Amino acid sequence: MTDTAGTGALPVEGVSAARVLDEIRALRAADRPTHGGRLFAYVYDPGVAGLDELAQAAYAESAHVNGLDPTAFPSLLAMENALVGAAARLLGGGPGTSAPDVVGSVTSGGTESLILAVKAARDARPDLAEPRIVVPVSGHAAFAKAAHYLRVALDPVPVDPVTLRPAVADVAAAIRPETVLVVASAPSYAHGVVDPVAEIAAVAAAAGVRCHVDACFGGWTLPWLRRLGAPVPPFDFAVPGVTSISVDLHKYAYAPKGVSVLLHRDAGLRAPQFFAYADWPGYTMVNPVIASTRSGGPIAAAYATLRHLGEDGYLRLAAVTRDAVAGLADAVRAVDGLRLLAEPESTVVCFTADDPELDLFVLVDELTARGWHTQPQLAYAGLPASVHLTVTAAVAPRVAEFGPALAEATAAARAAGPVVLPPELLALAGSLTPEALTPDLIAGLAAGLGLGAGPAPDRMAAVNTLLQAAPVRLRERLLVEFVGLLQRPTW
Ligand SMILES: Cc1ncc(COP(=O)(O)O)c(C=O)c1O
Repeated sequence: MTDTAGTGALPVEGVSAARVLDEIRALRAADRPTHGGRLFAYVYDPGVAGLDELAQAAYAESAHVNGLDPTAFPSLLAMENALVGAAARLLGGGPGTSAPDVVGSVTSGGTESLILAVKAARDARPDLAEPRIVVPVSGHAAFAKAAHYLRVALDPVPVDPVTLRPAVADVAAAIRPETVLVVASAPSYAHGVVDPVAEIAAVAAAAGVRCHVDACFGGWTLPWLRRLGAPVPPFDFAVPGVTSISVDLHKYAYAPKGVSVLLHRDAGLRAPQFFAYADWPGYTMVNPVIASTRSGGPIAAAYATLRHLGEDGYLRLAAVTRDAVAGLADAVRAVDGLRLLAEPESTVVCFTADDPELDLFVLVDELTARGWHTQPQLAYAGLPASVHLTVTAAVAPRVAEFGPALAEATAAARAAGPVVLPPELLALAGSLTPEALTPDLIAGLAAGLGLGAGPAPDRMAAVNTLLQAAPVRLRERLLVEFVGLLQRPTW
């Protein structure tokens, strides 16, 4: 009998709902575990029983609602305004504060919020032919993407190799007459350190330039950690000169993917973020954000998540997370040869290796083999390679197991020894220009590293070692080529 259902997305004859769901579950089995506290990147899991079910139900209620027109779907407008109000209040804005006129928009994620912060700053200065933004190198890569998309020049500011923060004098020196935006992170994703926001905002204000605080990662944890007594420096609208703040609800607000909030100190600052168009025969269009048609699903799910957890819930989750961070940091300190790159001050644990016999990329693979999924970070501009752990509340029950696993994985990585790539390959990676990469060369490299169609190899140390040997522009090109190999249609 012919299997008319096949395995493609569009079978000749439709298949049953039960079978489709089974198929998706089978595909999902190859994924990293989104729940259970063993994945230290990509996912934010509070480990709260029943929360997923609530978010899914709320998502389903609004999945087909279209955010394109707030007058047609007032439910979505009401929930968006409530999310913006909650975020503003948490971040030093709203009635009775020094920033009573804060407004905002709900976007699809941190990247969209940052692109729009850059767009608003750029379009507020139509007089400038070549606008520029000043971003510490520890700022999220999405600022570079925004600069690229919007044709804004990027002025990177180095960070101190010990504090991992930019020097305020360097930020001030980078500001030029064409600068439209200065950026600070609270905290940086890579190392979890909070930039000197008050000082950066002050130099931006003195130059008459907007200052965006990227609190995509920390905006929903730092306020609770502060309430719990942690020494969190000022980073929000209480700081004069801060003109906009981004905070991702799909990170530490524990909402499903697809929700971030971009706040501006007042409506005048937000106005150039919008796009309106009436010069065509179709519907008059006004978009506060990049997307036009937008599902109400993520917004309703975020609304349900915030209302269900409430301030008391977030405070409790922050306390649990804080203790998990302390426990993980202790586990790192206990292993000979490993060193915290920064003392944890938010919800990131980031460590490096001081021992040349201990290859961090091999260690990451050994941890993966034991069911612990961490994130390797390549050496960059004088900063050593490191391992990043995003810590969420669901990690807490796992902390006691992590220490022995880390010790065991470190011993295994030492025993295995560092990755040794053929010297000619390393020399090639170090000297090749992106333009010199031919399809044959890429295919040869990919095959040698076990990359190609199909899932990525279990062990990525060789890939990371090769990328690390390459200059930044070549790293980027190799990444594009390797992911291009993965993104091929199935027939
Ligand atoms: C500080 C910071 N900014 C921006 C982003 C980008 O967010 P997204 O992945 O939601 O686009 C991230 C993501 O980790 C982040 O940590």
